[in-house]
Amino acid sequence: MAHLLGIDVGTGGSKALLIDDAGTVVASATTEYPLLTPRPQWAEQDPAAWWSATVASTRRVLDESGIDPASIAGIGLTGQMHGLVLLDASGGVLRPAILWNDQRTAAQCRAIHARLGEDAVIRITGKPALTGFTAPKLLWVREHEPQVWAAAAQILLPKDYVRFRLTGEFLMDVADGSGTSLLDVNTRAWSDEILDALEIPHAWLPPLAESAVAGAPVHADAGRQTGLAPGTPVVAGAGDQAAQAVGCGIVDARSPVSVTLGTSGVVFAATDGCRVDPTGALHAFCHAVPGACHLMGVMLSAGGSFKWYRDTLRPGADYDALTSEANAVPAGCEGLAFLPYLTGERTPHPDPDARGAFVGLTLRHGPAHLTRAVMEGVTFGLRDGLELMRGMGVGATRVRVSGGGAASSVWRQMMADVFEAEVATVNVTEGAAYGAALLAGVGAGVWADVAGAARSTVVESDVTAPGANAKASAHAYEAFRGLYPALASSFRRLGG
Ligand code: XUL
Repeated sequence: MAHLLGIDVGTGGSKALLIDDAGTVVASATTEYPLLTPRPQWAEQDPAAWWSATVASTRRVLDESGIDPASIAGIGLTGQMHGLVLLDASGGVLRPAILWNDQRTAAQCRAIHARLGEDAVIRITGKPALTGFTAPKLLWVREHEPQVWAAAAQILLPKDYVRFRLTGEFLMDVADGSGTSLLDVNTRAWSDEILDALEIPHAWLPPLAESAVAGAPVHADAGRQTGLAPGTPVVAGAGDQAAQAVGCGIVDARSPVSVTLGTSGVVFAATDGCRVDPTGALHAFCHAVPGACHLMGVMLSAGGSFKWYRDTLRPGADYDALTSEANAVPAGCEGLAFLPYLTGERTPHPDPDARGAFVGLTLRHGPAHLTRAVMEGVTFGLRDGLELMRGMGVGATRVRVSGGGAASSVWRQMMADVFEAEVATVNVTEGAAYGAALLAGVGAGVWADVAGAARSTVVESDVTAPGANAKASAHAYEAFRGLYPALASSFRRLGG
């Protein structure tokens, strides 16, 4: 029996997931690493930590499963998107990677729009230049760390740094490349227009490939470190959102819309060819399926808001206990609302200065109200993204949900009520790593194509319909929509 390995270089840790050629999970291991926040709004990580965590997780799945490493027919890489890894000419890391949730580059985003015109940036790259994306980080390095810029020779994304350590090759897939603000999503190639206008050397960028295409295989030294068989094929892979979608069966325009409620909150729809939102509110990326693209809206702190709430205000509380106390509070929290913009926001408010807030507190409100308000605020933020999809004509009457929050039946019911849509879960709960393993399977010939791989392994397992709280939720959502516009200028003043 052949096996497939998916590796997800996430923000919290690196996960190795081993499946067999029927799509059944054989073993999974995650090794954590820290997030570095040297200043407010900054988020960095050490690429060396990604590699050592990947080595540890891979060793663990091989040990725990006891399989013959030579039975692994392919490896698929996925990971946190947008992070800037800069290498010198000998492959050395020049500075800590600047991550997707880092918010230091507002001035550089403005400079990119001033240089090219925001319309052109949206038309070419599928979205405006936003603080999380890679190109503004490059401009920041050029301005603030000229010595790093002078030594730079190669730009990579997080999972592609792990590929470099695993295979010695510089390569990137078009799905993850779409998050750099340097790729033309219409042609699935680096944009000379953008690179020239921003004076970024073309030679620093790796070659591009479709997600299920194999590049260089595991090299001998990486084989010794990880226990993998040298020569094992490694496919290009995909950014975590595209891979997550594949692992949820969202592969073409006939697939349902999906919502991933993890640290970030993602609203995702696959499209046949690229559909760019000219307003730039939803973001177009190449999908991990040749010829397909996807529209996406990302909340930066979704499950992250709930984790912050638990860690800060209810330390030690169990997530299930929190969701059940929230379930006992009426929808709308008796007038209490929460804004989930703890790390600024991307969709629908592209604003690094946005902040979190509880609004509407009264003496009547207790801890359970706060808990429900946080869950509702996150769910309302996701509905904002769904409304943008609906505005572009994407049918969203059924939403496939995944991520940690989707494991809670209370949260699934809240999503169905707030989204005014049926909410379905799937049998696969391994997320992006599973999608990456499917991509490896396509590269190895286990499945003919990505859609076929997803259709043979991913099925819906549970459906929740809107219930009695739908009306009160709609009322509270309308009130929520008024809060960010009312507070935006105060957030800016607080930040300054
Ligand atoms: C996607 C994004 C995040 C990271 C998190 O655009 O910024 O979802 O990929 O892993």
